[in-house]
Amino acid sequence: MASLVLLSLFYSPRLLVEACTDILVTPGASVDGSAIIAYNADSPTLYGVLYHYPPSKNAPGTERHVYDWDSGVYLGKIEEAEETYNVIGNSNEHGLVIGESTFGGVSVLAWNQTGAIIDYGSLIYLTLQRATTARAAIAVMVDLMDTYGYYSGGESFSLMDRSGEVWIMEVIGRGNDFGKKGAVWVAQRIPDGAVAAHANQARITTFPRNDPDNFLFAEDVVEVAIFYGLFSASADPGSFSFSDVYDPITFIEARQGEARVWSIFSAIADKTGEFQRNYLSYALGEETDHRMPLYIIPCEKLSVMDVMHLMTSHYEETPLDSSVDVGSGLFETPYRPRPLVWEFNGTKYHNERSIATAKTGWSFVAQARPWMPPELAAVSWFACDDSSTAPRVPVYGSSKAVSAAYAGQGSQDGVFSPLLTFDLTKAFWVQNMVSNFCYYRYKDVYPMVRRKITSIQREFNEMMVTADERALTLYNEMGPDKAIDFVTLFSVNAGNSLHKEWMEFYGYLFARFRDFYTITAKGDEPVCGCVAQEPGLSESVKKRIVAETGNHYKVLDNGGDHPDVVSGESPRHKRDTSPKYTTMES
Ligand SMILES: *[C@@H]1O[C@H](CO)[C@@H](O)[C@H](O)[C@H]1NC(C)=O
Ligand SMILES: *[C@@H]1O[C@H](CO)[C@@H](O)[C@H](O)[C@H]1NC(C)=O
Repeated sequence: MASLVLLSLFYSPRLLVEACTDILVTPGASVDGSAIIAYNADSPTLYGVLYHYPPSKNAPGTERHVYDWDSGVYLGKIEEAEETYNVIGNSNEHGLVIGESTFGGVSVLAWNQTGAIIDYGSLIYLTLQRATTARAAIAVMVDLMDTYGYYSGGESFSLMDRSGEVWIMEVIGRGNDFGKKGAVWVAQRIPDGAVAAHANQARITTFPRNDPDNFLFAEDVVEVAIFYGLFSASADPGSFSFSDVYDPITFIEARQGEARVWSIFSAIADKTGEFQRNYLSYALGEETDHRMPLYIIPCEKLSVMDVMHLMTSHYEETPLDSSVDVGSGLFETPYRPRPLVWEFNGTKYHNERSIATAKTGWSFVAQARPWMPPELAAVSWFACDDSSTAPRVPVYGSSKAVSAAYAGQGSQDGVFSPLLTFDLTKAFWVQNMVSNFCYYRYKDVYPMVRRKITSIQREFNEMMVTADERALTLYNEMGPDKAIDFVTLFSVNAGNSLHKEWMEFYGYLFARFRDFYTITAKGDEPVCGCVAQEPGLSESVKKRIVAETGNHYKVLDNGGDHPDVVSGESPRHKRDTSPKYTTMES
């Protein structure tokens, strides 16, 4: 969703809040030969639900209403396709998957086409309903934008299909004055064996004009830039770089967007830290000219679990880790309240912006599996909320139903998001309870959440092997319909059971970490079969408190033999807990 740049340039309040991260893995770079796209949809007003569009047949002339995904604003009506496909989340029944991140781009072209009807969110869902392959999807997207006008800012779209083709398509509107609606764009196929990523910064640079297997583009992509004075008419068109012209890189875009790509590439490019070191100055925003490649060849092939792990990054163990400075509070959290950029004494500062972020509404890691029939090709591992604290449920692209815990519609359908209506039947709310609890006691709770998620994902991975086998047998022996019924049941049950398990897990965490204690089972304790441990303060926190407050908290007589002088277990024995317990002191 929309770019961080906007934050610094103050366009309009509704656009300030959004941002996203995508990873694209080609079949030759994945352990099982699937193409993989990971996508976090980041917005504090995005309700975390799994959209479902059932297939439909429509009479010619049927109308379809389009609402802006970000704002819910009604944009207008278009002609519905005569046939639409089943869409679950961002996957369809043919194994097509689409994600995005918003780069915004130059202000004359971003969010600046009067009367335009197609926003980037609707573009994704309309296209998933109309296309079967990545190439077909690109053509559908171009046609929709050029026919009805392009409402949004600059976007990097991620596309993959069940043939294993993986593409990045970058688009920006033609503005108002060029005399043609829609958007200019370049699409680049990611070579097999490579991994690409993008995060709120356009990344395609120069491109050949004679390689349609790997590069597609709008015929007027340079002409529009010349028209608006963004590129010199006398310059060599071959030197035209889409991202440099339409989305020139700034400190904020490098440090808060490209740094996320850097964290992904650094983790998989090599084991020596060479990539990480080479592009550190770029990620830090110090050397914005030292650009990273669009894709890299990973030193080892990635499993779907590896990709899930990459999407949990808070820059752990890198120079951008913010769980180590004073802002991390008493529990070493990498999270910070927004806005990302803040001012002190006339100078601007910022918080790091990692891949995993509190404001994610929902996310997926989807696989397109070339060895499966179309209906079984796409599986989306879907999660509500923060990609580092949320477990993922596997859902087949041909599913005819969604678990009630995950089901819902979005603002692109003109549906109001109930973000002030707490509802324990919805995965979004239970997940937010776990995440927000984690934010409060980060160093104690987060490792437990990660372990739990890993065990859940392993279990689902094993279940998927059996489910795939069963679905394939049904497909071959009884036909697609029976297979689709089966994967529907599987996907719905998986969602229902995960929701139940996660609610129980929240209860477990809450009981364990209540009231700033760590309460642990201990069988021979007569009161509760448990002990309440005091987590205390870390050395670095103590040091900062003393440095800031001097003698204010100093125990002036050194404490004598008061029980609180020695911290430990069983606070019920402490004199200050409550007067009625003083008689119980041992
Ligand atoms: C939007 O386009 C109009 C031309 O129709 C132009 O005058 C205006 O400056 C553009 N907006 C921005 C922010 O550049
Ligand atoms: C603000 O900056 C000025 C000039 O460097 C300095 O003298 C002043 O102490 C600073 N104020 C605060 C509150 O830090």
